[in-house]
Amino acid sequence: MPDADIILSTFERAAQACADPAPLIYARLFELRPDFKPLFDMDTDGGVRGSMLETCFEAILGVIEGASSQRVIISAARFSHGGYGVVDEEFDIMFASIRDVFRDLLGARWTGTEEAQWAILLKEIAAIS
Ligand code: HEM
Repeated sequence: MPDADIILSTFERAAQACADPAPLIYARLFELRPDFKPLFDMDTDGGVRGSMLETCFEAILGVIEGASSQRVIISAARFSHGGYGVVDEEFDIMFASIRDVFRDLLGARWTGTEEAQWAILLKEIAAIS
């Protein structure tokens, strides 16, 4: 289980550095996987991307608080995304993109402890099937 306070602190400091990290997070996702970009072609107003990212944030906060409901939501989304062609560990690239952007936003203030706790968090989420 990752340390909730350490993960929360990265959320808060990233939000101070950038009020709306969504464009950066999707830019990172599409940098890692350019083939995912066309999946969002129909999302002309960004509504799906906004709501998907919100779900990801809620899922992370739920996992660090030990909320089983958010684990169910991750599990259901993992399954439903198979229908969009997002399979296996591809789903987890979204969470890694969030971590990458937070790390970039915090720059030199991102600590080794934060890196380690995020690694634990991503591993825990990846284990939710
Ligand atoms: C790289 C990973 C991911 C890709 C490529 C991806 C792709 C997509 C696409 C293409 C849609 C729109 C589907 C449609 O309406 O036709 C979508 C919707 C959605 N995704 Fe993802 N997804 C990813 C990861 C995640 C994760 C990790 C979560 C959260 C646990 C998530 C939650 C959602 C939700 C809640 C929606 C519905 C949003 C709405 O319409 O209001 N996705 N995703």
